Amino acid sequence: MEMISRYGAPPTRLISLLKTLDYPLKQVSEADKFVVLTDDAMDPLIWQATMAGLHSHGAEALLCLYPRREYHCADPSPLAVAAAKEADVVIALTTTALNSGTPGLRAIRSEGGGRGKTPIWLWEELNQEILIEGGGNVTAAEVEEMCEIQRRVGAVYDNGTKIRVTSESGTDLTADISGYKPGSLAQRWGKLPFQRDEETGKLGGGTWPFGEVHVEPKPGTANGVIVWDQTAHYPAGQWREPVRLRVEEGRVVEISGGIEAREVRHYLETYGDENTWKLGGEIALGTNRRCRPLTGAMRSEKKRYGAMHLGIGHGADRGEVNSTLRLEGIIDQVTVVVDDKIVVAKDGEILV
Ligand SMILES: [Fe+2]
Repeated sequence: MEMISRYGAPPTRLISLLKTLDYPLKQVSEADKFVVLTDDAMDPLIWQATMAGLHSHGAEALLCLYPRREYHCADPSPLAVAAAKEADVVIALTTTALNSGTPGLRAIRSEGGGRGKTPIWLWEELNQEILIEGGGNVTAAEVEEMCEIQRRVGAVYDNGTKIRVTSESGTDLTADISGYKPGSLAQRWGKLPFQRDEETGKLGGGTWPFGEVHVEPKPGTANGVIVWDQTAHYPAGQWREPVRLRVEEGRVVEISGGIEAREVRHYLETYGDENTWKLGGEIALGTNRRCRPLTGAMRSEKKRYGAMHLGIGHGADRGEVNSTLRLEGIIDQVTVVVDDKIVVAKDGEILV
């Protein structure tokens, strides 16, 4: 985070920040009720700009601010969960990741909204630099281009059975990706974010910055080695040494490396459960060319073009691996091959 380490995060950046929220807030109107979840570690300028943007579009907007949770995927304050159940859209502007594995988030999501579920706009771990200098600085045309790439990759996954992921740093993992509904991944990942559903009139989902396409392995089928070589949700920041995870029949059986590996093990043992060690999470390819390399920031790394976030623990798509903690780490410049013949990406360049 070059700008922030040089100049800090001054409130005058509001001047540039507001513009980066134009796209996600474009379709917000008077009828919409928003709950913004945040914590005491988040840069206040970001939730202030978000609240101002929502208010200027006429939406009803409530901010819920609570002390930072102890670990990623921990539930928000129960009071915030109660408020979020009343919202049409929830914006997660927290400094810990949230996902649908946590009971609180599941409770929110099941309550209604767009197509019977409340969309949660995942903007966790954002900072000014990601928005202004990085992935948040995209044009509408660039978002469309990302959706088109994602649709094409999704279509390959829809028709594929086996995925193989390799990287120069030593990843070599295979898994079964069959079992999704026909055409579902192309449809899901080709969809523009933050749009209103034509039938219900309600706002749908979105992440900001935008840009990924993922598939989940069938539980029990992943085998090989994962090398997280940039960063992970924990420990935060750009890593000095990679972390190697050996996977057998869909389960992590060994974690090796330096200080980072020790920290990852400690984190999993402290906050995870039995299923955290299983491969249920995402095999996800970033598509956003504006996300800069070497930031050590997960929010940006997860969307960076050609980088992969590969998660262990809770898998939201299939709903077969439920765990208290999902941990995602980044593999740079991946090669992805489906069914031994379709090269989805080669050394970080998406080819389909
Ligand atoms: Fe993802």
